[in-house]
Amino acid sequence: MAYLELAALKKVYGKDIEAVKSFNLKVDKEEFIVFLGPSGCGKSTIMRMIAGLESVTEGNILLEGESIIDYQPKDRGISMIFQSYAVWPHMTVYDNVAYALKLRKISKEQIDKTVKEVAKISDIYQYLNRYPNNLSGGQRQRVAVARAIAIKPKLFLMDEPLSNLDAKLRVSMRTDLKRIHQELKTTSIFVTHDQSEALSLADRIVVMNHGYIEQIGTPNEIYHDSESMFVAKFIGSPPSNFLTVKVKEREDKIFVIHSDFELEVKNKYKKALKNKYINKEIILAVRPENFTINKKGILKVKCNIIEPQGSHVVINIFVGGEEIKVVSNILTLKTNEEIDLGFSEKIAFFDIETEKRIR
Ligand SMILES: Nc1ncnc2c1ncn2[C@@H]1O[C@H](COP(=O)(O)OP(=O)(O)OP(=O)(O)O)[C@@H](O)[C@H]1O
Ligand SMILES: [Mg+2]
Repeated sequence: MAYLELAALKKVYGKDIEAVKSFNLKVDKEEFIVFLGPSGCGKSTIMRMIAGLESVTEGNILLEGESIIDYQPKDRGISMIFQSYAVWPHMTVYDNVAYALKLRKISKEQIDKTVKEVAKISDIYQYLNRYPNNLSGGQRQRVAVARAIAIKPKLFLMDEPLSNLDAKLRVSMRTDLKRIHQELKTTSIFVTHDQSEALSLADRIVVMNHGYIEQIGTPNEIYHDSESMFVAKFIGSPPSNFLTVKVKEREDKIFVIHSDFELEVKNKYKKALKNKYINKEIILAVRPENFTINKKGILKVKCNIIEPQGSHVVINIFVGGEEIKVVSNILTLKTNEEIDLGFSEKIAFFDIETEKRIR
């Protein structure tokens, strides 16, 4: 039995706005799940249905095997935090964190113990007597986290909790959230449209698009074995490069042919290309770091624009009229320099019509 199960969950707003279309997901106890997808794909809608803030059109939500869709939000044992950290300005940090515990008729001593415990974990212990207005955005968001985890929820939902913070704070807060999760192991769902946040936090990522699931997998699976061009494009910075190529067979060898190069396919895709795609056009996908430079490559190209990133450079190159981005740690490359470009084994192929990975 899954700890949390979303079974054929569907949400229609009004007459015909299908925000969530038959969503199926099983979550294990202690897992950290991230919902990743573009604006409007239904992430918040699912979170709000789980929390009980939005009705369910069809399907079911089971927590520890029991349907919770008819329960009031407060009876679900779920904590949720949002982008706008709604901490109460008229209460001290201590009272903010203690509030939900007081409603539960827990002894004063126990409340005090829990507040101090979660304040230490959330790194706000020194601010317990302050009012939220006298805290920074990051500290305020930590108060919201402390308040949410104080009730020891069965499920901790976070809907873009870091997006109001500046870039540097975002990165440090996500490490804090990861540490808190490693300590408390509260089963969590975290929403973001930042792929780097998703990769760094998740045990498993659910990539969403238009109310559908595109792919569910570990960060490595999602990045290295993207199931669709949508996922390959959404994950990675810069994202995957796509080139249209044609499949040819010569003397039992399989090649993909582009106007500027020919490449023999030797990896796991060879069989599927031979079986189904001879003489057909397909998409060759290459992550920016999966090229080789000046190592017996297969085409000569010019470095068009070079963007230094400190530890590496991003090189913009034209291949047959299409611009690709290549990441390299050769920091001495110059604009207009000619290089010998090759491909590593880690290339992937997608069907040009379905945009799904060829298998
Ligand atoms: N109360 C509502 N009434 C009608 N349509 C709604 C309502 N709430 C959301 N929608 C629509 O449902 C779809 C999903 O919205 P949702 O807020 O779940 O997206 P999201 O993935 O959280 O996006 P974002 O990343 O921008 O927060 C959108 O098309 C949105 O316009
Ligand atoms: Mg949202």
